[in-house]
Amino acid sequence: MSVNYPISVSEDWSVLQAQIAQLNPDKIFVLVDENSHKDCYPILSSNLALDFITIVIQSGETNKNIDTCQKIWTALLEAEASRKSLILNLGGGVIGDMGGFCAASFKRGIPFIQIPTTLLSMVDASVGSKLGIDMLGLKNVVGLFADPQAVFVYSPFLKTLAHRELRSGFAEVIKHALIFDEDYWCQIKSIKTLSKDIAWGPIIQRSIDIKSNVVSEDPLEKGLRKILNFGHTVGHALESHYLDAPSSLLHGEAIAIGMIIETSLAKDKRMLSAPQLEEISNFICSFYSDIIRTLPALNQLSNALKQDKKNEGQGLLFSLLTNIGSCDYNVLTNLKELQSSLDWFNNHLVPKFE
Ligand SMILES: NC(=O)c1ccc[n+]([C@@H]2O[C@H](COP(=O)([O-])OP(=O)(O)OC[C@H]3O[C@@H](n4cnc5c(N)ncnc54)[C@H](O)[C@@H]3O)[C@@H](O)[C@H]2O)c1
Ligand SMILES: [Zn+2]
Repeated sequence: MSVNYPISVSEDWSVLQAQIAQLNPDKIFVLVDENSHKDCYPILSSNLALDFITIVIQSGETNKNIDTCQKIWTALLEAEASRKSLILNLGGGVIGDMGGFCAASFKRGIPFIQIPTTLLSMVDASVGSKLGIDMLGLKNVVGLFADPQAVFVYSPFLKTLAHRELRSGFAEVIKHALIFDEDYWCQIKSIKTLSKDIAWGPIIQRSIDIKSNVVSEDPLEKGLRKILNFGHTVGHALESHYLDAPSSLLHGEAIAIGMIIETSLAKDKRMLSAPQLEEISNFICSFYSDIIRTLPALNQLSNALKQDKKNEGQGLLFSLLTNIGSCDYNVLTNLKELQSSLDWFNNHLVPKFE
């Protein structure tokens, strides 16, 4: 099974040119931030023989809000966008989520195409039709589900991406392998260092296949889709906790630590063996050792954990591995169990990196 729109991982721009031609738009807008404007827009515009109107916004999660949406809608109105106009969202997950949200609500919805330019948005954000913005410090609280007309993934965009951003996206690749595909895990385990020169195309394709399989089985996250939250219950709590700290974590970095803690939780619940925990945490630490740190006490995290959108009723619900390559969801866990995984992390894992 797959999603209802074409996703192309390709270096052949004629694929995108044909998709745009089929839509026959009256105007084509390209939404970018200053970085994707500088590094990616010249590549796009030189490969497509079309006229574009660019809308440039400021980069960063702090701008993923209603004020920026107003600027985008204003730019669309001033340029007389109609329901026959098309928006190309050229950027990372911030551009994709917010540009898609603006397109899906402008004049009750105009067509948009996702052209992700970060590893995270290529393997994750641009597939699955979740769109939205942040408000009052809460991530993605205002948003909707809407399908793009297409997703076009051009992996050479990664050549200009900062190494830390590349590593952040790689956490989602690790997640896809662990929750769904043991062969994929064996394949990525041979990667020793992350570089722009890795053949990213096949990796991105495999991750997209996994995500689109899961999403098409359960588009609205009633069940199976929750396995994509592996590492995210603890990861989101850490991301929020360190938000304004000098040692703040990128999304994927927080998820990397979250996956280690949640794997330890699965081991304690006898869903996984101790050697499996060691294999997983060794691999993750080989990339993320510099961000491994002593984590805060659970009472400092528990608010963020309880706010987690994935929880229902009492207890905490986790998506936990049942093996390398498979994952269960809605696994009820109490705070005591979680505390013991945090203790293991702080007392046994952290000292190895100090
Ligand atoms: N919709 C979903 O299902 C979903 C899933 C995961 C994450 N997200 C969202 O994605 C966002 C994070 O996405 P992100 O990690 O891509 O962050 P981002 O969009 O902020 O991009 C990271 C940085 O890289 C820069 N950049 C982008 N492409 C570049 C390139 N090719 N070369 C040089 N610089 C480049 C950007 O300007 C930015 O400074 C979050 O808002 C998150 O909520 C959504
Ligand atoms: Zn994520």
